[in-house]
Amino acid sequence: MPLFDVYPLFPIEPVKASGSWLWDKNDQKYLDLYGGHAVISIGHGHPAFTKAITDQLHQISFYSNSVQNSLQSTFADKLGALSGYPDYRLFLCNSGAEANENALKIASFVTGRKKIIAFRKAFHGRTSGAVAATDNPKIVSPFNAGHEVVFIPLNDEQALIEVLKTDVAAVIVEGIQGVGGIHIAEDKFLQTLSRRCRETGALLILDEIQSGHGRTGKFFSHQFSGIQADLITMAKGMGNGFPVGGVLIRPDIQPWHGMLGTTFGGSYLACAASLAVLEVIERENLMQHAATLGTQWMNQLKGYKEVLAVRGRGLMIGFDLPENRADLRKTLLNTYHIFTGEAKPNTVRLLPSLAITEEEGAGLFSALNAELT
Ligand SMILES: Cc1ncc(COP(=O)(O)O)c(C=O)c1O
Repeated sequence: MPLFDVYPLFPIEPVKASGSWLWDKNDQKYLDLYGGHAVISIGHGHPAFTKAITDQLHQISFYSNSVQNSLQSTFADKLGALSGYPDYRLFLCNSGAEANENALKIASFVTGRKKIIAFRKAFHGRTSGAVAATDNPKIVSPFNAGHEVVFIPLNDEQALIEVLKTDVAAVIVEGIQGVGGIHIAEDKFLQTLSRRCRETGALLILDEIQSGHGRTGKFFSHQFSGIQADLITMAKGMGNGFPVGGVLIRPDIQPWHGMLGTTFGGSYLACAASLAVLEVIERENLMQHAATLGTQWMNQLKGYKEVLAVRGRGLMIGFDLPENRADLRKTLLNTYHIFTGEAKPNTVRLLPSLAITEEEGAGLFSALNAELT
């Protein structure tokens, strides 16, 4: 049976991975500066991560959310402590889109409203509400398009003040836009947004699915601005490749039985994997490392004349190239065996493991020294 062909594929088949490295079936080694869309947070096959999942697998791997699972609470407590949101509540699900879908739903339940404000170039996933709040008409089907979503430019306070009125259920914003090309939601803008949300009763949803879990040097990227969001969504780096997502929910928002639900969310394996990720982030000081190494990389990138702009925080970095260098990403992969990401039109995205070393990263800069002026 052929697969439903929705993904353009590189002619590469990785069969093994460790830390920041992948090997294909011909034993060619690749430097991974992309982590399969920002997913690999603590490194491929981290021994503590592998052990946690393996041990759990030998105990119990699955039962439903109709029984007690104290691993969920252990994980939630650790997440609350490390993320700086100890008094929030956690809803566990399986992916980024599902986290956003549930956050939008909570906001609508709480406010009794349905209008959503989202931002130009935003990407929030492919389920019904999440894709409606995504600024890419090509992936929005007529069925998804029924939602009431208003798009405004990121960091445009005037536009925000014009549309954010008392009929809005939620504003959803990425801490740093990832798919859109590494565009930071500015601190001052987030502060205004947070204040206006409070004044109008709209809930502020921070999508930290790509920019969370320590990638930027803080646990969540919006924490640079000093605000607290009402709802925070996460996935990607949360499970280091194990499919898991979650929503942090302001403590005064009251749940009721049946309000949300999922069969697989918060499984033993997902909790064991996600707990191991948090423990490694803490034990190996990966947030501080991401901040230090990311600043160093951004300064180095600014040294190339052909690099038109460098944006980012920590190890979430984008750099723009002129049109005639649009092939650089392909050259990095095919000639230097380095995986990177892209954003249209000519942005290269770097989203490596937070545990990547300076020596490993040096491979990128020797390639750029050879390719760029
Ligand atoms: C910011 C952001 N939100 C949501 C998603 C959707 O996550 P998932 O693919 O796990 O549904 C993504 C995925 O790229 C993302 O970058």
